[in-house]
Amino acid sequence: MSDPVIVIDDRGVRTIRMNRPEKKNALTQPMYAAMTAALREAAMSEAIRCIMLAGSPGAFCAGSDIGDFQKRAEGGLEPVTVDFLHALARNQKPLVAAVGGLAVGIGTTMLLHCDHVVAATGTVFSTPFVKLGLIPEAASSLLAPMLMGHARAFALLVMGRPLNADEAKAAGLVNTVVEAAAVEDVALQAAREIAALPAGAVALARKLMRGHLDDIVQRVDTEAMHFKERLQSEEARAAFAAFFARRK
Ligand code: COA
Repeated sequence: MSDPVIVIDDRGVRTIRMNRPEKKNALTQPMYAAMTAALREAAMSEAIRCIMLAGSPGAFCAGSDIGDFQKRAEGGLEPVTVDFLHALARNQKPLVAAVGGLAVGIGTTMLLHCDHVVAATGTVFSTPFVKLGLIPEAASSLLAPMLMGHARAFALLVMGRPLNADEAKAAGLVNTVVEAAAVEDVALQAAREIAALPAGAVALARKLMRGHLDDIVQRVDTEAMHFKERLQSEEARAAFAAFFARRK
């Protein structure tokens, strides 16, 4: 069985690839743990000057694994997701994302922590948290309204209305929209461009532009507290069961 998260370092760029294509890269707890470790290790390495997040052709990430949500609702699983969100929020290396296809839930909200996003033309960005009886996470309740304004963030995060690639670009979530086949090359080129810049100046500029880290981490924690409660709600349990029942 291939590794569900593949980490490759090449010429100053660390690529963290979600690799569970048969489940559209829905993130399991071990995948979150591997991604957290890859982010934290990168912080220790001067050689790594930029990080690229990638998925599979046609699927960047289908969000958290809903089977894991069910287990967490029953208290059977330790949440490592929050640990990942802390690592993501506290990460100080420039982050590029190569979004080769659908980006659902955290597949979209993790992009709010990225510095440069390249997306395939057919990508759909959606955050169906509320439809699942949940609430937005990854500090998206703070970062999305700041990025795109309250009305657009509300339609995305609360009404669960998806954005297509052009809309995501207009909302400021995406830099460049290209044909699916070119996504990784274009994203890697941007990552290499960033990696070639003076690292100290990049780090400081990024830090200044990111705003108050403590506010972001605090929002991650506040959302996580509510998210945990919502996982156990009747609304959420019914939505999870409906997801798995839909294919039968
Ligand atoms: N958790 C668990 N399994 C998931 C998943 C998720 N988040 N997303 C996709 N999968 C699984 C599907 O159950 C299916 O498994 P199966 O082959 O054993 O039936 C497989 O991945 C392929 O997905 P499928 O639904 O057949 O692909 P699609 O292209 O028709 O639709 C999605 C893709 C992502 C739109 C759809 O799978 C979906 O809505 N997933 C749930 C996304 C979600 O709500 N995530 C949580 C956000 S908070």
